[in-house]
Amino acid sequence: MNKTVDAEKTLLVDGPASVIVTSGSVEVFGLLANVKNKIVIREGKRLPFVVKEKATFEISMGEGANAEEVDGDTIPHSWAMALEELLKIETRPVVAIVLGPIDSGKTSFCTYLTNKLLSGNNKVAVLDGDLGQSDIGPPCTVAYAFVTKPIADLFSLEAKNAFFVGVTSPSNAQEKVIEGLVLLKKEILERGSDFVIVNTDGWVEGEDAISYKVQLVEKLNPEIIFVIQQNGELTPLLNALKGLKPVLVESPSAIKQRSREKRKNLRELGYIKYLKNAKVQSIPWNWLKIEGNELFSSYKTYEDIKRAREIYSLLRMKPLFFSEQKDKIFIVIGRNRWINKDNIEKVENYTKKKVILVRKGEEEGLLMALYNSDKKFLGIGVLQEADYRKKFLKILTPVSGEIATVILGKVKLDKNFKEIPVFAEEEI
Ligand SMILES: Nc1ncnc2c1ncn2[C@@H]1O[C@H](COP(=O)(O)OP(=O)(O)OP(=O)(O)O)[C@@H](O)[C@H]1O
Ligand SMILES: [Mg+2]
Repeated sequence: MNKTVDAEKTLLVDGPASVIVTSGSVEVFGLLANVKNKIVIREGKRLPFVVKEKATFEISMGEGANAEEVDGDTIPHSWAMALEELLKIETRPVVAIVLGPIDSGKTSFCTYLTNKLLSGNNKVAVLDGDLGQSDIGPPCTVAYAFVTKPIADLFSLEAKNAFFVGVTSPSNAQEKVIEGLVLLKKEILERGSDFVIVNTDGWVEGEDAISYKVQLVEKLNPEIIFVIQQNGELTPLLNALKGLKPVLVESPSAIKQRSREKRKNLRELGYIKYLKNAKVQSIPWNWLKIEGNELFSSYKTYEDIKRAREIYSLLRMKPLFFSEQKDKIFIVIGRNRWINKDNIEKVENYTKKKVILVRKGEEEGLLMALYNSDKKFLGIGVLQEADYRKKFLKILTPVSGEIATVILGKVKLDKNFKEIPVFAEEEI
């Protein structure tokens, strides 16, 4: 479909769609769109094409896509003012952090700042601290990228490095997220950058969220804090940050809110981005350091054969796998094996420890991160199977080369990389 749009109008395109600007002058979050770059809009996303001079568009629309003209520029004036504030800072490097609720335009504002800074010949890095709606690294990670040319969507960037947290919501992993971001910020500064734009998750309301955001700000120690606000809902956060003089930025009114389902779908595109061309690798457990999961992390614990025999006899079966820890005992049995509850109780009474019964197959689909022996993040993978007898892990991953450590997450994916609910988690 071709479309002509006059100057001083904005074409809002809802994905899935792709757009080529064939003539005229058009900006997308500060990127000058031209005939040479095809701009892809993912499902659940909307991009504003701000027409500076009468322009023609070639638009391909997928199912559910939409293109609509509106008057004026949908980028709030306060975004340009924010850029000015940022440029007033004379020291380098400048770390800027962006805070705001979900669907407030955080990612778009980061994209806008990045593009505008690039046109001023600055070296720019984006540090993505949003686990659930990550733009740069795989979902469940925080990550960064250096940006060398203007972009319409941060999603098109490849992560330079990432830090795996293993969950989609920061509320259960606040310290880990902060640890990851501090580490990555340090790495960016060591590699050299004029500006570091830090994006964050949308968990900003309520006491816990505010204390987490204040801590994050304290630890990252940015030169400037931007807070995107819709209707005054962030007053408590602003009060908590008062001494640090946050700069208020408006949330665009043309934003398209996304449902929880759409957010999940967008996340799944993130898994696909980092799992394409994945192959299955079988790796012996004892070649790996396994972290993040008590059961697998414990396989090296010393096993007292006599005691094990005693326990098997109380259970009246030999399990597939058995691991005794300080306060609990993991017992893994086959998918269809039956085990008598009374026998488990007998083991608990005998050992004075809690028995955790695991069925083979429960591990399938767990998301994991893979690292080399220098602790460099290599990529993500999905656990296909744990062979408890031969002590092998079968991992689906595009990572090739030496894998020394794996960290298991708490998210599970099915064969199409769709999330399967496992642990009740509040979703952001
Ligand atoms: N000025 C604008 N005009 C039209 N659409 C916009 C504008 N700014 C942002 N959008 C669109 O609104 C949606 C939400 O914006 P964005 O993704 O930047 O918000 P966010 O706060 O990062 O959301 P999340 O919490 O999901 O990370 C996106 O599809 C984005 O492209
Ligand atoms: Mg975002």
